[in-house]
Amino acid sequence: MLSGRLGKCVVPSAADEATRYFWHKHDRWLGGAVLGFVTGASSGVGAAFASRLAADGWDLAITARRGDRLQALAERLTASHSVNVQIHVADLADPGDVAGLELVIAQLKPDMLVNNAGFAGYREFAQVDPAVVAELVDVQVMAVSRLSRAAVPAMVARGSGAIINVSSLLAFTGSVPPQPLPHRAMYVGAKAFQLAFTRALAGELAGTGVQVQVCCPGLIDTEFHALAGRDITGIPFPVMQPDEVVAASLAGLRLGEVVCVPALPDPSMVGTVDRAEVALYRSAVISGLADRYRSEKAGAAAAD
Ligand SMILES: NC(=O)c1ccc[n+]([C@@H]2O[C@H](COP(=O)([O-])OP(=O)(O)OC[C@H]3O[C@@H](n4cnc5c(N)ncnc54)[C@H](OP(=O)(O)O)[C@@H]3O)[C@@H](O)[C@H]2O)c1
Repeated sequence: MLSGRLGKCVVPSAADEATRYFWHKHDRWLGGAVLGFVTGASSGVGAAFASRLAADGWDLAITARRGDRLQALAERLTASHSVNVQIHVADLADPGDVAGLELVIAQLKPDMLVNNAGFAGYREFAQVDPAVVAELVDVQVMAVSRLSRAAVPAMVARGSGAIINVSSLLAFTGSVPPQPLPHRAMYVGAKAFQLAFTRALAGELAGTGVQVQVCCPGLIDTEFHALAGRDITGIPFPVMQPDEVVAASLAGLRLGEVVCVPALPDPSMVGTVDRAEVALYRSAVISGLADRYRSEKAGAAAAD
């Protein structure tokens, strides 16, 4: 892992009340710079998160594999916003690099961690390269968990902070077969992990002052699709810009949304999903073996 540091430290001044997220009452904001740690900042949504936070006066630590991209972004943000930007070149599929980032996070104690890095890996499951299966889990499950674990203790001790996990609208599509959606069992599994992990962690951290959000955007205009070998030009659905997703996510934090779905017109639908899950859980947890399985059990016993 390679690290570098650019820029000079300044007290942020650009943010108005509306862009101070949830720290506006906190001494740390008034007394000095706040710091955001953004993964996958070399393009797309991650670069947009870094740009927006820098414009709001945040210092940054940004990471991805393409150091030239990070360097160019850091130089641009330092020049335009006079913020401090550290770059950390790291491969989130490499456990050693993730361990290095854990140390960086433990040392920097960021006020916000954005677990954004990801890729599609779309392929029929029977044909997907086993190395891609491992990489998908490493980047979108293991690294998200480990970096969150590294960030949470200092946030809890401070009584403030936020973790944003960039998942996908596809996290809700486990029951939808492929075509026209892509073959995506691994991707949906990883994004559904982020959804469930964030919701459970939010419950665990309630009352600590630490906010956790899973952001579930639909189609976004980034390099993601070309890397997945898909052409989305002419697709009959709206495609968001990365900065729109970032605006929704940060507005969602202010609204206290644990699950932020940028394109969802009626946010109460998230509550409907929550209630359906709780109803299923409550019904099953108080019941024994369901009737429809009893004949199977009786048949098996008779055969013994
Ligand atoms: N685009 C969409 O339609 C869409 C929709 C819903 C959700 N999302 C999610 O949004 C997030 C951002 O994607 P995007 O659309 O902005 O795509 P993108 O432009 O391709 O950006 C992906 C970022 O992830 C980084 N990354 C990928 N693999 C990595 C690895 N092994 N180690 C470190 N960094 C890695 C890339 O950096 P390097 O290549 O430089 O390492 C890049 O900065 C992803 O989690 C994606 O799943 C995207």
